[in-house]
Amino acid sequence: MQTLSQYLNQAQLSPALAALLTTLANSSKDISQAVRKGALAGVLGVAGTENVQGESQKKLDVITNDMLKDALAADGHVRALASEEEDEVVVLGDKGEFLVCFDPLDGSSNIDINSLVGTIFSVLPAPVGEISEQSFLQPGRNQVAAGYVLYGPSTMLALTTGKGVQLFTLDPVSGEYLLTVAEVQIPKDTAEFAINMSNQRFWEAAMQNYIADLIQGKAGPRGKSFNMRWIAAMVGDVHRVLSRGGLFTYPTDTKDPKKPFKLRLMYEANPMALLVEQAGGKASTGYDTILDIQPEQIHQRVAVILGSANEVDVCLEYHGR
Ligand code: F6P
Ligand code: MN
Repeated sequence: MQTLSQYLNQAQLSPALAALLTTLANSSKDISQAVRKGALAGVLGVAGTENVQGESQKKLDVITNDMLKDALAADGHVRALASEEEDEVVVLGDKGEFLVCFDPLDGSSNIDINSLVGTIFSVLPAPVGEISEQSFLQPGRNQVAAGYVLYGPSTMLALTTGKGVQLFTLDPVSGEYLLTVAEVQIPKDTAEFAINMSNQRFWEAAMQNYIADLIQGKAGPRGKSFNMRWIAAMVGDVHRVLSRGGLFTYPTDTKDPKKPFKLRLMYEANPMALLVEQAGGKASTGYDTILDIQPEQIHQRVAVILGSANEVDVCLEYHGR
């Protein structure tokens, strides 16, 4: 089986990008260890702090953020980073051709129930000159690489450098990532959806109508039965979509009028959208293609509908697209 380093060597990447992806992969091995030790390492529970978005930080949010930050600072190819757990962008130095955005531990509320969590990352080109938040505000289409690491029964890395999506599994014996699924393709059609149904009354009419028609099953306008799944960690739900298709959405809602969207554009929606498009799927807000959005802030949130291409198209029809 091909190792990650063999894959990176033959993928015709710049040596700098290959080195950065190796740094991210190596850091994820350390995170995987920390996650796996759990209570034995005293890493569960809350840190007693809040992130810039007012969410309570878990100890592991802080620990994994620091692990990635330290690894990227030592890498030498990264000028600055933006993280879910950092209020502002962190400038690492005046050298390096990349900017990295990451969610160090996605789905961290799952940590205390020993369920799926992951790391999501997005690599953008660094513009020349001084780096500020403005430097990060590039459409997701500019990403030179994106991926996630899922800390599940096995630790898996999903990676795209804009030439398809590859899935690697961490071999616990050799400590190497091995290529286990080459050229992932999301089936165009599906009979599975993922949404937090408890927010139903807060959705727009378009989403209300779409889901109502799905759950009517064979007797409804779709003429087939749909199954539902919700892992409450975007990495877990997107991994299922990459593995067997499906539609995942965290739509607009009015639950908290100050917060109409939940998922963050720069380090959740964009990297997942690139993976999904590269695997033949689609990713939209309901109105706009995620990867074409011009970001205005590093922590901005966005509605997300992604997955099997034909099913996303059906959902977009309900949105008048
Ligand atoms: O990062 C935000 C997140 O944890 C996603 O990973 C996940 O899809 C979603 O929020 C879960 O939301 P909820 O708590 O509404 O189920
Ligand atoms: Mn997250």
